[in-house]
Amino acid sequence: MLKEYDCWLQERKVTAKIKVPEVIYAQKGGEVCATAVRELSSGINRLLGFVPKVQKKADLKNSGVFLEFDSYLKPESFSISITENQILICAADDNGLLYGVFRFLFLLAQGKITHGLQINETPASPLRMINHWDNFDGTIERGYAGGSLFYKDGNFDFDNKRIEDYARLLASTGINRLSINNVNVRANAKLLITEKYLREAAKLAAIFRRYGIRLFISINFGAPWSLGKLETADPLDERVFAWWKERASIIYKYIPDLAGFLVKADSEGEPGPFQYERTHADGANMLAKAVKPFGGEIVWRCFVYNCQQDWRDHSFDRARAAYDHFMPLDGAFLENVILQIKFGPYDFQVREPVTPLFGALLKTRHVMELQITQEYTGHQIDLCFLPHVWQDIARFDIVNNENTERKFRIMDLIGKYKEGLSNIEGFASVVNVGLDNNWTGHTLAQANLYGYGRLTWNPQLSAKEIAQEWCALSFGEGETAKKIEDILLNSYPAYEKYNAPFGVCFMVTPNSHYGPNIEGYEFSRWGTYHRADANAIGIDRTPSGTGYTEQYSNENAAIFRDASRCPENLILFFHRLRYDFKMKNGNTLLQNIYDTHFEGYDETFKMAEDWKSLKDSLQKEVYESVLSRFEMQLINAKEWRDQINTYFFRKTGIPDNKNRKIFP
Ligand code: GCU
Repeated sequence: MLKEYDCWLQERKVTAKIKVPEVIYAQKGGEVCATAVRELSSGINRLLGFVPKVQKKADLKNSGVFLEFDSYLKPESFSISITENQILICAADDNGLLYGVFRFLFLLAQGKITHGLQINETPASPLRMINHWDNFDGTIERGYAGGSLFYKDGNFDFDNKRIEDYARLLASTGINRLSINNVNVRANAKLLITEKYLREAAKLAAIFRRYGIRLFISINFGAPWSLGKLETADPLDERVFAWWKERASIIYKYIPDLAGFLVKADSEGEPGPFQYERTHADGANMLAKAVKPFGGEIVWRCFVYNCQQDWRDHSFDRARAAYDHFMPLDGAFLENVILQIKFGPYDFQVREPVTPLFGALLKTRHVMELQITQEYTGHQIDLCFLPHVWQDIARFDIVNNENTERKFRIMDLIGKYKEGLSNIEGFASVVNVGLDNNWTGHTLAQANLYGYGRLTWNPQLSAKEIAQEWCALSFGEGETAKKIEDILLNSYPAYEKYNAPFGVCFMVTPNSHYGPNIEGYEFSRWGTYHRADANAIGIDRTPSGTGYTEQYSNENAAIFRDASRCPENLILFFHRLRYDFKMKNGNTLLQNIYDTHFEGYDETFKMAEDWKSLKDSLQKEVYESVLSRFEMQLINAKEWRDQINTYFFRKTGIPDNKNRKIFP
């Protein structure tokens, strides 16, 4: 029976295909190695029902499970070999051993540990990061699963056991970095870098450290004046640098292995270098110098755009912002600066093109920012299996040259980072967890957290592979798991259809970002418009419009700028089209808008019915909590369907060619 709290690390007795030896021989390592041994032992107990003996001295002639260091392997990598009477898990370092142990346990749980098995794995990316948008008052910005795991009422407030369980879940999927506070650093959170709070932060760091996870702290660029009483935060002012240098030395006393700072600057009202007419390279480099003596890094967000746009002004295009701001700075950042770029040019929409800044930066380390928390994808009320779109993003080829076999897909480039052949270093993502017993509000949203970790480890994994693994680990092998896998895989397309198909973006209720409000952003300052009128919809981003298409490399620009070649799931992002534009299926754009919204609702209805068919095979609590979310999702999907269809029917006066009900 599923224990929601345990997520994909369920206690479930499995029949092993081999006899798992009852002794673990572990080489002596550090703290994380000790965790690996404990996890192996408790994992074997969880799955096979016995507690193996742990012995230090490894005699390779014996039968046993061996945890060994092997200096020939790459950092964080592992190998697993299964022979007649031995299981050998090798790694170059502690983290590698821990990942090897978890992979072994995952395979054991899925019945995949067999004689002769030999696996070698290396994480594609050295930086596999989670961002928490947790506030000191205990709320979470864009959090849909209860309060913060870390804070309450303006202070740290955490349950050690719960944090350890969280660290275990993350480490089991390969996560190795985590930022602990909201990128909007407001109120008491500014004090996080003062001694009063660092003591507690250090305790948190100690728990994550045991699982090989290093912390980042989000800082406020204005801290030198808001905390330090300097009259400026100008990055080129020596006093400002001296202030940060001293701050860093205090912070590193408490958390010597702090990974560094995460910075949201000049973004949505946060202070930044622009205030002092300095560049983002000036800002990031100043901080980078301050943390460098301690081995720290600066993760600098590229979510910099004008959020005071006049909707009347068609010449300005928010989609251009990241590239326009950061491309000219390529090469100007110090080597311990990493740019964190949202995957799309807008803001975590259900479907956006991959931002052209990716891969274009040839001299600057950068990571892709995803959003596991479902801000625009259903608030963890609606089911939306995100690896579905992450897979598309990972497969985007930034060069896309048809004349060569060579691929420049994001997933290949990330894999090449360590060889120095690319600057795309991995992923960061805003997480979806909170104090709810099942961590993620919607129990099936656990699959998104799991999927993110797996994808950062191996971006070549498909959504189907991830769904399969997660379902098997959570629900066991068999029919039930298979049906849930299908439900997961159907969920993203259904959501996209009733929400914002064809890359149209932003028809959502302002601020909350749940439910439809078709013109909610049309006359706002946020720069996210679709400009639907009686004849046409969408933004012309070709050279005859805002020219955004030209930020892409040649072949991609050629594809995106040509409406007949542009992928249809993005066509309204790049083009302003008349409603009678003929789509590839022979129907008009308008008819496609109607069709997708009807289908999106129908597919959601079917998912809910499929879930109901599982009633007798699931435990009541899980069945009912997911069912109640499907019931809310159906109300939401219906609202989207009917409001959108009515809106376009009223604009055009053209009925649905299948005569389905559109409310006048
Ligand atoms: C979105 C989101 C904000 C968040 C911001 C960010 O705009 O709605 O809540 O602060 O992204 O990524 O910084």
